Amino acid sequence: MSGIKVTSLSPALGAEVSGVDLHQPLSPETMAELKAAWNKHFVLRFRGQRLSDPQLLEVTRKFGELDPPGPNPYGKPFLADFPEINVISNVKEGGAPIGNLGDGEAVWHCDMTYIDNPPRGAFLHALEIPPAGGDTFWSNMHLAYETLPEDLKQAIDGKGAIHDSTYNSAGMMRKGMKEITDPREAPGAQHPLVIRHPDTGRAALFLGRRRNSYIVGMGLSESNELLDALWEHATQPHLSFRQVWKLNDLILWDNRSTLHRRDSFDPTSRRVMHRTQIKGPAVTPFTITPDAINAGALAA
Ligand code: OGA
Ligand code: MN
Repeated sequence: MSGIKVTSLSPALGAEVSGVDLHQPLSPETMAELKAAWNKHFVLRFRGQRLSDPQLLEVTRKFGELDPPGPNPYGKPFLADFPEINVISNVKEGGAPIGNLGDGEAVWHCDMTYIDNPPRGAFLHALEIPPAGGDTFWSNMHLAYETLPEDLKQAIDGKGAIHDSTYNSAGMMRKGMKEITDPREAPGAQHPLVIRHPDTGRAALFLGRRRNSYIVGMGLSESNELLDALWEHATQPHLSFRQVWKLNDLILWDNRSTLHRRDSFDPTSRRVMHRTQIKGPAVTPFTITPDAINAGALAA
């Protein structure tokens, strides 16, 4: 026995992991237990462990290959010495932001789905937190799919959507992008609306982000109507977990099984998080009728 303890944090998803010191080498048994817990709870929280940047990178590598951050609005890595680490912060030094996403709300999304192989997961480590606000929420996309009304399941079976790469979750335009007026022309990858989890095979709703999303092959208003219904269902409070950050919290989430969002916080307070990502395998579709994918919009 490795001695680790996994305690559920909400009925929908999330678990606290204790009894493990992430500064120490982790045995193969401990790693197997952690990965099993990750695949079961989708969001794992480790409390009270301050990791240096090299330690954060080392822990991340135990879960898979490092996936570098996507393009930020400023066009260069936030940490010159550790370009694999992303910084999420509202802090400015000498007028320049030290990190991404500012102090505003970050709307529901999952990370970097505008590329073909979005990250499998991510770590977020709280190095400085505001006295209030800035809570992060995750929602369980397996439960979202499984509890979807049958007519909506049928309506999305075998269908795919465009995942726009123009804006980040804080509404900031990424470097080199231009305004989108028609979602059908948005740049970004196409993914099935229902995917198979790479480890467990369990079906998950895969929505990316709402802004400029478009279901391929549908009329624009028909697509918007269906997307609104899916998003309303997927972001219900009973499918989510709320993380009220404590200093030094480290959260690992599954980016194929969850959506996340963040509350805004007082701009005069400081929030500094260091963040890593784990590379994901190709996205694979889940269909009720196995042939649907060939007949549907994702063909070719
Ligand atoms: C992220 C993200 C939310 C937060 O790091 O991908 O969306 O709480 N962060 O900072
Ligand atoms: Mn995110």
